[in-house]
Amino acid sequence: MARHYYIETMGCQMNQYDSDHLGRILEDSGYLATSEPEEADFVLVNTCSVRAKAEQKALSRLGRLVALKKKNPRLLVAVAGCVAQQRGTDLLARFPSLDLVLGPREIGRFRDILRKIENDGTRLAAVDVHRAPTAFMGRFEYFQHSVKAYITIMEGCNNFCSYCIVPYVRGREISRPPHEILEEARNLVLQGVREITLVGQNVNSYVYEKTRFPELLQAINKIKTLHRMRFTTSHPKDLSEELIQCFARLEKLCPHIHLPFQAGSNRVLKAMKRGYTREKYMDLIRELREARPCIAVTSDVMVGFPGESEEDFELTLGLICQIEFDNLYSFKYSDREGTPAVRMTDKIPENQKLTRLARLQEVQRNITLKKNKELVGKSIEVLVEGTSKKGQQLTGRTDTNKIVNFNSDSSNINRLVNVKVKRSSFNSLWGELTSH
Ligand code: 5AD
Ligand code: SF4
Repeated sequence: MARHYYIETMGCQMNQYDSDHLGRILEDSGYLATSEPEEADFVLVNTCSVRAKAEQKALSRLGRLVALKKKNPRLLVAVAGCVAQQRGTDLLARFPSLDLVLGPREIGRFRDILRKIENDGTRLAAVDVHRAPTAFMGRFEYFQHSVKAYITIMEGCNNFCSYCIVPYVRGREISRPPHEILEEARNLVLQGVREITLVGQNVNSYVYEKTRFPELLQAINKIKTLHRMRFTTSHPKDLSEELIQCFARLEKLCPHIHLPFQAGSNRVLKAMKRGYTREKYMDLIRELREARPCIAVTSDVMVGFPGESEEDFELTLGLICQIEFDNLYSFKYSDREGTPAVRMTDKIPENQKLTRLARLQEVQRNITLKKNKELVGKSIEVLVEGTSKKGQQLTGRTDTNKIVNFNSDSSNINRLVNVKVKRSSFNSLWGELTSH
């Protein structure tokens, strides 16, 4: 009888990449994928701990999955990602029938670890956050079925923003060798992938010997049948002039940047240890728009950082209105154990955070609606990814990363098509096919 595996992924694209890789190893080891945890012989939840809410969700999902062992005692249950890294062996104590805790830097050893827990019932926490780049070895042979794929090019973060848990759980920055990344990109393109997103906590600090991020982009831009490349996430303080010029020069680099700003007040930015000012951030956006006028800009922002006054919050709203982001991911500040912000006084009450978040989201909602409406009547290129959520239409994305749905038969899946936009909403555009 075939054995099955089930993976649930939370959090960022790096977790998605890791889950794909773990799935590939499980397939190599004789497991088949299933979308039903109840049918699985191996279940894994790949977790995120960047905000308190994400961590609570991860722990509650893990609790549910571990409970499946009551019905199926042979089931193996594993937890990966940032919660695994942060809590380590504590999780083995908290969930007495959990089999494996796997930190992000240990994924290179998963093949051996799997054999161990399968064969002798070992319960294990593999959470060395200092593992050398060899942990990446052998990570490029995984298989992708879709038209777009992620490649992790670097891991970790050296920035230590005062609110952020990432540097503690993902470790210091390590960049992968460019030849390995290029080989992975070429393999993906051979398998039919047409859009590659380079991912890392801080991609623009990518450096491997003499190769910096702009050079890496140039090399990938030369891969012949690749149509599009993107990257995420960038830090404003490391966004170099050369990188900005890549948007003008590299035709495959999509006109979209995700550039978290976090706060619009210089006082708060300083307390967050972000390393740039409001003015510097605005200059960067101006330069990006000069280099590529159609560039879409998305960002992350937080409300309720300790000590955030009404004036500070107004400065954040002002920046949002001035820049007019295409989309914005907004969060309430939450304490993350072990970060300096936990010890800051002047915490903002929960209800005030909620009020500010709602006000901010309303401002952004109108901007996104307005920006999407401006596209009505325009003809845009869409890379078709599959059927839409409702299943009756095809769905894809513009080079600016906006979702477009349209009527078509499935022969257009995985192709680039032109669509004339007829309607727009907050989340997506709807249009009619004009050509293949
Ligand atoms: N509280 C709330 N939001 C946070 N983020 C990071 N740390 C915290 C925290 N402690 C947000 C930032 C980051 C995004 C991934 O999550 O906006 O860019
Ligand atoms: Fe966290 Fe700041 Fe690093 Fe981003 S740059 S991962 S917010 S510490």
